[in-house]
Amino acid sequence: MVEPDRMSLLDEIYAYGQEHGGMWNVSPDAGRFFHLMLQAIVAKRVLEIGTSNGYSTLWMVDALEKSGGWLTTLEQDPNKVRMATENLERAGLKERVDIIEGDARTTIQDLDKRFDFVFIDADKESYQHYLTHALKRVRPGAIIVADNVDSHADEVADFLAMIERDPWLEDVRLPYGGGQVMMYVRPGR
Ligand SMILES: C[S@@+](CC[C@H](N)C(=O)[O-])C[C@H]1O[C@@H](n2cnc3c(N)ncnc32)[C@H](O)[C@@H]1O
Repeated sequence: MVEPDRMSLLDEIYAYGQEHGGMWNVSPDAGRFFHLMLQAIVAKRVLEIGTSNGYSTLWMVDALEKSGGWLTTLEQDPNKVRMATENLERAGLKERVDIIEGDARTTIQDLDKRFDFVFIDADKESYQHYLTHALKRVRPGAIIVADNVDSHADEVADFLAMIERDPWLEDVRLPYGGGQVMMYVRPGR
């Protein structure tokens, strides 16, 4: 459960995106799903690729506060980094989040932590690149979710084929917003 003050902030951030456009936030259902999933797997370290104004970040880091976990998020737009920083500060959760500003195609290669959960939600043409690097940085049994696989089916076709070719990835589709694919990285990969 998200406590009422934070839920109001989440609603406000989402409403801002709906009103002004350009934030491309996940749907509230997807946020709820991430919140539940991170608690269920007792996630301690999460990587997000594509922060925007911090809506999905806030859903996830609220769950991580309960497990004493940390989140790293990658965003190239300085204005969105500023908005996400302000929103996370308002929630009192900024100290649990490392926002790395810059092109995620590069910054993802410099990460040195090992993650329990990865959320891929940036430029669709780079999804294969993000998955390749995410797989180097996850623990066995990690979960990886990528957004917009239905809404951007053409752009992510090669990415989905890459998942299907990998016998160590077990995947399922989720119906939230633009559609997600969720992968389980089988131990031993
Ligand atoms: C769909 S939005 C992320 C929405 C966010 N996850 C949420 O649900 O609130 C995608 C974000 O990825 C960022 N982005 C796109 N390409 C990028 C890149 N190469 N490196 C870093 N960020 C990128 C965009 O600026 C945008 O803010």
